[in-house]
Parts: sequence; structure tokens; C-alpha cells
Amino acid sequence: MPYVSALPRQLVETAVERTVREHGPVALQYGSGQGMPRLREQILEVMALEGIRGSVDDVVVTTGSQHALELMAKLFLDPGDVVIAEGPSYVTAITVFKSFQAEIVHVEMDEGGLVPEALRATIVRLREAGRRIKLLYTVPSFHNPMGVTLSWQRRMEVLEIARDAGILVLEDNPYGLLYFDQAPPQAMRSIEEDGVVYLGTFSKTLAPGLRVGWALAPHAIREKLVLANEAAVLSPSSFSQHVISEYLDTADWRGQIDTFRGVYRERRDAMLAALAEHLPGLRWTVPNGGFYVWLRLPEQLDSKAMLPRAVKELVAYTPGTAFYADGGGRDAMRLSFCYPTPDFIREGVRRLAAVISGELTLLNEFAQTQPLPAHPERQSVLPPNVG
Ligand SMILES: Cc1ncc(COP(=O)(O)O)c(C=O)c1O
Repeated sequence: MPYVSALPRQLVETAVERTVREHGPVALQYGSGQGMPRLREQILEVMALEGIRGSVDDVVVTTGSQHALELMAKLFLDPGDVVIAEGPSYVTAITVFKSFQAEIVHVEMDEGGLVPEALRATIVRLREAGRRIKLLYTVPSFHNPMGVTLSWQRRMEVLEIARDAGILVLEDNPYGLLYFDQAPPQAMRSIEEDGVVYLGTFSKTLAPGLRVGWALAPHAIREKLVLANEAAVLSPSSFSQHVISEYLDTADWRGQIDTFRGVYRERRDAMLAALAEHLPGLRWTVPNGGFYVWLRLPEQLDSKAMLPRAVKELVAYTPGTAFYADGGGRDAMRLSFCYPTPDFIREGVRRLAAVISGELTLLNEFAQTQPLPAHPERQSVLPPNVG
């Protein structure tokens, strides 16, 4: 969850008050299925910060970028189609693609994001098997859940591979503006217009409760997205769109994004320092933005099985398996540093380290117990000293 408390109440109150005072009847009315023209212009200004140039005509406002994912899946996916996605991938994108009966095929990632050679090989393998690949879904900047960022060089390579293979790229970029030290490379959509559908959102740079995101799509796709949007919700919330538009007009929104960056940078630092102190034997990613660290466990541990034990100690994480459609990720977990304060992060990591250490001790004890003597009536899998 984004740390919305870092957003000064005054800024929101002004935007809401102006919305009611100056746009009341319109803001309370149904709106256009494509979204407010004024807000779409402002969205172009936001995207320009990441090198994107587009036409206001090709922006479609949606109910969060989550809804844009759903609309894209609805337009493009038939049962049995393949969506290529990073392994791991954003859990609720996997849910959407699966709900349209597509198969998600993961492509290996490393510290530098999606590995282009692995992508190339996956496409060849799938095509040889006669599979129909519809989309390449990617979160290139401050990836959810890994926290890593695709380099400029790799962005070019991935786009070239997708172009050669005729595969549409779905670039999902909620975190690109939330960098800590250095801005990420410009969006993939800034390089390629026709082959990329770009998704953005106000959820992380303003507030997720407003539920406003958008898609920037090649013209032909944009037309279908508007129809699908209307079919689903008639129009995205007029009220939220007006509030955001007023906020962008009246508040120092760039300065507010800087404030969020500062908050999240401090929390990232707290998490990395706590990991180094309490779990020095493990490996984790070092994000330069966004919300997440990906922690690798010793391979004999199972992050999903361990979760109830962690929750009992009042520390929680998302098990790695949530981010794979194929059962992978057992020995990894996503840690979020966005919402808890640095003190809570330090305490949480300390508790997590104690849970991991307890789990390892237990496993070692089991490993040292002697197997039961073979006996037809004693099929228990428990070691002799249990139960
Ligand atoms: C990668 C990614 N895409 C999309 C979303 C959905 O965001 P929203 O619907 O709030 O815009 C999230 C939210 O966490 C996300 O991490």
C-alpha cells in the first residue's frame, strides 16, 4: 500500500473543494467513456516526464491501471493464447490473464530485468509448438515484485525482439517516477509507438483510493479500449477525474512526487540495512525505486509454508509462489517497504530473520532423525520423535 499519509491533506481538500464548487453538476454526472479531455491532456504532461510523447486522442482513462489490464485481456485474449511475462510477474496481472484462460509463460529475469536471450528462445520454442502468443507483459521499471529495472540497452533489444516476432508489448509502469537515486531509462513506449500499449496510474504518485489510471494505445486499439471501457463501467469516475485534474492544476505535484521519493528512499535504506544486519547469508535485490525487495531463501525453505509461522510472529510478506503461474518462486518472497515506518521495517526484518532461523533449525533437526524402520503397518511420514 502506498504511504498516502505523506500526501498533505490540504492539497486534497483544495482539489475536492474546487471540484465541488466549480464543477459540481458535471463532476457528479456520467462522463465520457474515454475520460475527461482536460485530464487526458494533463496525463500527457505526466508521461512526458518519462520521455513519452503521444496524442490526447490515444489516452483512455480507466479505473486504475488494473482495469486497463483487464480491458486489454478482454480485447486480446482467447482461451489457450499465451501471454509471455517476466518470471516472477505482478500477481494480479497473472490473475487477469488466467481469468481469460490464457497461459502465462514466464521468461527468466536477473538483476537487470527480463533477459532478452531468454525471451528470444521462449518465442522460438512456443512458435515451434504451434502456440499463439498474444502479448508480452512487462513492468520494466522498479519491477513488482523484484524491484529491478530493465536497462536502456535491454529495452531496445526486447522491443526489437517483440517487433520481429509481431508481438504486442504491454508496458505496465506504475512506479517509474518513484526513483531514489537516478531516474530509470525512459519508458519503452518512448522508443516504440505502434507495438506498445502503455499503462500508467495515479495510484502510487497520488492516491490509489481515487482509482484512476490510463492506457496510451495505438489508435486502432484505443478505439476498442474505449468501447470495452464503456461496456464495463460506462465511464470512469467523473468525480475522481475532476479531483485529480484540480490537484494537478493547483498543487506542486512534481514536488509531491519528490516527497514520496524521499519517504520511500528512507524506507528502502532501512530495509536494506536491516537485511544486511539480520540476514547476512541471504541474497536480495537492491531497488533504485518503487516499493519492493525480492528476498531469496535457502533453497530447502518454502516461503508459502512458512507464512503462517511468520504471521504468528506478526510479520508478513508475499510468498514468491504468488508471482508465478507455474508454481515457481517457492524459495523467494516479496518484501514491501512502502507502507511501514523505518522502525517497523527494522523490527519486521528482525522478526523475519528469527522465523527463518527457526525454520532452518527445525529442518536440520528433522534431517538428522533416523528414518523409520520399514514396517508395513507404520507408514507415517513423521520422524520418530513427533506425534
Ligand atoms: C505492476 C502493477 N500494475 C498495476 C497495478 C494496479 O494499480 P492501480 O489499479 O491501482 O492503478 C499495480 C498495483 O500495485 C502494480 O504493482
